[in-house]
Amino acid sequence: MAGRFYARARRDELLGPVFARAIGESDVAWAAHLARLSDFWSSVMLTTGRYHGDPFSAHLRLSALQPAMFDRWLALFGETCAELFEPDVADAFRERAERIARSLRMGLFERLPARRRVIRPDETRA
Ligand code: HEM
Repeated sequence: MAGRFYARARRDELLGPVFARAIGESDVAWAAHLARLSDFWSSVMLTTGRYHGDPFSAHLRLSALQPAMFDRWLALFGETCAELFEPDVADAFRERAERIARSLRMGLFERLPARRRVIRPDETRA
């Protein structure tokens, strides 16, 4: 699933450049990314606990990320699920993806300005 979805995302004119910049074109880098994403979806759908990471920080580092990209991401993800799974399974994946996308997008783009300020390690909160 991860393989097919990212093949689509890499070809996409909106999302492709973001992945190319962050992950590059090397097969080794992509294999590592796909393995991480397989662990992520295994943890989300089957609660296997295989994923140990921080998606929020990973996306925070992507300076080219824009809110509208989440709609495209979800559309491609939905198409991939519909091709691969029975409808009820596809719906379950889509529902989880939508919820995670919403919380990522809110956390990254819809914070109040005051909370967006970066607090450096040597700084104390007033
Ligand atoms: C707005 C569309 C999105 C774009 C362009 C995008 C792009 C990326 C990129 C480039 C990375 C690699 C970052 C790195 O290795 O430095 C990444 C990591 C990841 N993405 Fe996304 N992403 C998007 C939305 C999502 C959504 C909606 C989900 C989950 C439902 C998701 C799940 C993940 C996970 C789990 C990782 C691995 C984080 C880690 O390193 O542990 N992404 N994404």
